[in-house]
Amino acid sequence: MKNYKTLTPSDISHFEILCGKAYVTTDAEAFETYGSDETEDLHFKPEVVLKPRTAQEISQILTYCNQNLIPVTPRGGGTGLSGGALPVMGGVLLSMERFNRILEIDELNQQVITEPGVITQVLQETCIEKGLYYPPDPSSRGSCFIGGNLAENAGGPRAVKYGVTKDWVLGLEAVLPSGEIIHTGAHTLKSSTGYNLTQLLIGSEGTLAIITKVILKLIPYPDTSLSMLVPFYNETKACEAVSAIFRAGVTPSALEFMERAAIDWTLRFKPDINLQVPDNVKAHLLIECDGNDADYVMKQCETIFGVMEAFECGEILIAQTAAEKDSLWKLRRSVAEAVKSNSVYKEEDTVVPRYRLPELLASVKEIGNRYGFQSVCYGHAGDGNLHVNIIKGNLSDDFWENELPKAIREIFETCVKLGGTLSGEHGIGWVQKNYMDIAFSEKELDLQKGIKQVFDPNQILNPGKIFPNE
Ligand code: LAC
Ligand code: ZN
Repeated sequence: MKNYKTLTPSDISHFEILCGKAYVTTDAEAFETYGSDETEDLHFKPEVVLKPRTAQEISQILTYCNQNLIPVTPRGGGTGLSGGALPVMGGVLLSMERFNRILEIDELNQQVITEPGVITQVLQETCIEKGLYYPPDPSSRGSCFIGGNLAENAGGPRAVKYGVTKDWVLGLEAVLPSGEIIHTGAHTLKSSTGYNLTQLLIGSEGTLAIITKVILKLIPYPDTSLSMLVPFYNETKACEAVSAIFRAGVTPSALEFMERAAIDWTLRFKPDINLQVPDNVKAHLLIECDGNDADYVMKQCETIFGVMEAFECGEILIAQTAAEKDSLWKLRRSVAEAVKSNSVYKEEDTVVPRYRLPELLASVKEIGNRYGFQSVCYGHAGDGNLHVNIIKGNLSDDFWENELPKAIREIFETCVKLGGTLSGEHGIGWVQKNYMDIAFSEKELDLQKGIKQVFDPNQILNPGKIFPNE
């Protein structure tokens, strides 16, 4: 680990000159807020919170921090689930909240140019006003920033049809740790021009550069969608039904799994959601189809009804009104929050090829039984992406610290054995870094560390993340 500099009053004064006094904060309340994101119950105190407004200001901040070996941790909306925004080495917490402008919606080319501190849902709704669509929709879309979505390569329910964040980014402006400002990509849908620095920065979790501008592609807004909730009497059958839907020729715009405990906990957490679930229901699939032609969307749903018959499901609930649809999605989007409100927990963002999902779920439960922990499982089944929330409940601190990592290691080993990997959409960040050896050989990790070294030789940018033992 580097010997980072501890900030002094003279460093703070320098930051005040660079950003303006109002945007440099050292009070305890701010440290409380900016010391956590949505990851478990973790908290790390920064030494200062900076809120720059321009790429030039960030350039000056990074130049200074690079010269003085001061760690810099960038932060978007603070909704991350792998600890990417936690200032684990102290130093500067660089909040991107003032980069909150949508700069241009280019209707002729169907693109949007935006600053990274725009809330994802705000961006989506602004585009929809023009009949255009930016599909990636993490559950936190009402508060997460588009820049954070890029940093973690966020997904969400619609990824199953439309892809994840990386599939929508055409180009970037970013500031390197040296202070230099670079531009990647172009305003084009294709580019075979040199190494793809755009895609290298996406998912790099704020460890290579600070993104200050984003060019995204858009598509025409699909104005029709149908949502349905399918109950199953057996979790395995629900998981098996998932790949059968695609094999019948349908690509739904969302295909989500919730096991019984996820539904129960969320209904208790959000009592305004009106849903009666019979005792013998063990899991639900929440399925949505969309498009611009209502007949075609209905036809897709009918194909799904046919597929479901083979999997012993109960009566399918089709949302008849916008309110009913919202309520089903509220149920699904609130699971993480509901679990968090119940107990200390750890969330694993496991992902496997979708046909292997039943095996993954069975293994997670088997490992849980053997080690003695409860897990609440839900997620983007169509992507083979299962969120496994491990509940601390009454488990001892000793078990949680010393035994549980062995169980998590077994879960990840299972993912890799099934052709999957450690994280589908939450990133590695702080909490999964000690498992990277399961997914990568030493050589493969060295290549990635080499890239980090090229971008950030002094290791000032988001130190302590992604790589084990750092
Ligand atoms: C979700 C978040 C936790 O799918 O990724 O709700
Ligand atoms: Zn998710």
